[in-house]
Amino acid sequence: MTDLSQPGLPGALPDKRQVAASFSRAAVSYDSVAQLQRDVGSTLLEQLPASLEPSNWVDLGSGTGYFSRMLKQRYPQCVGVAVDIAEGMLRHAREQGGAHYHVAGDAERLPLREASVGLIFSSLAVQWCGDFAGVLSEARRVLQPGGVLAFASLCVGTLQELRDSWQAVDGLVHVNRFRQWEAYQRLCIASGMQVQVLENRPHVLHYPDVRSLTHELKALGAHNLNPGRPTGLTGRARMQGLLQAYERFREPQGLPATYQVVYGVLQKPLEGGV
Ligand SMILES: C[S@@+](CC[C@H](N)C(=O)[O-])C[C@H]1O[C@@H](n2cnc3c(N)ncnc32)[C@H](O)[C@@H]1O
Repeated sequence: MTDLSQPGLPGALPDKRQVAASFSRAAVSYDSVAQLQRDVGSTLLEQLPASLEPSNWVDLGSGTGYFSRMLKQRYPQCVGVAVDIAEGMLRHAREQGGAHYHVAGDAERLPLREASVGLIFSSLAVQWCGDFAGVLSEARRVLQPGGVLAFASLCVGTLQELRDSWQAVDGLVHVNRFRQWEAYQRLCIASGMQVQVLENRPHVLHYPDVRSLTHELKALGAHNLNPGRPTGLTGRARMQGLLQAYERFREPQGLPATYQVVYGVLQKPLEGGV
């Protein structure tokens, strides 16, 4: 989950095999700790145009398929396709129902035909893609004219409290990096699609202690996969330093963890072809 605002950070791009393996391992634990994911995906569903009646939908980065099941309820007549890079997630999702088809694929190279999809719904997946311009161009390629891409992602400022606390302890990169909000704006405007919604909203969760937060990130498969991350066990002294450093953020509700969520709804123009 790197890229940040600039292209050309090849050494810092995420290893997709690691992303896939991490989410595959997390498939069973994911749903029990995915409150933020539920809230964000539900907000994204609310932002879909009321008039939209797609002939079919794709849940891109579908994870356990929770939102595939929501999409099935919302559009009962439609054929639905769940696409995810993690085979373990697809297996788990297939058992729960929702989509008609479960396809292994990468948002940057969609295994779908040109102009074949009415709605692409993607909640909290594309922050893992180094090439967001590529994601948008693939979405534009596979959408039918008038088709809609609705995505939720994360930008800089996400988990800032954890990042700052680690910074105070050892100055190393312990938290995934995120693209700048301005990069989302620039790339969406340049996508050749009409931007109907593009906003950045903070969601703040509270935890009783730092371990609850780090355990949750691990159970989600969303712990630090950054190239250059420290490896090996975290020593007792450094962990103690982290707990202390995070305490300065404590609020009456607990320790805050801020997620800067980006919501986008883009429509492929009716004219202008593929
Ligand atoms: C945080 S989960 C979100 C799952 C689901 N959308 C939800 O909201 O519950 C992110 C999902 O995106 C998938 N993912 C990550 N990178 C991807 C990529 N390049 N292409 C497709 N899926 C990807 C992961 O395997 C994981 O299942």
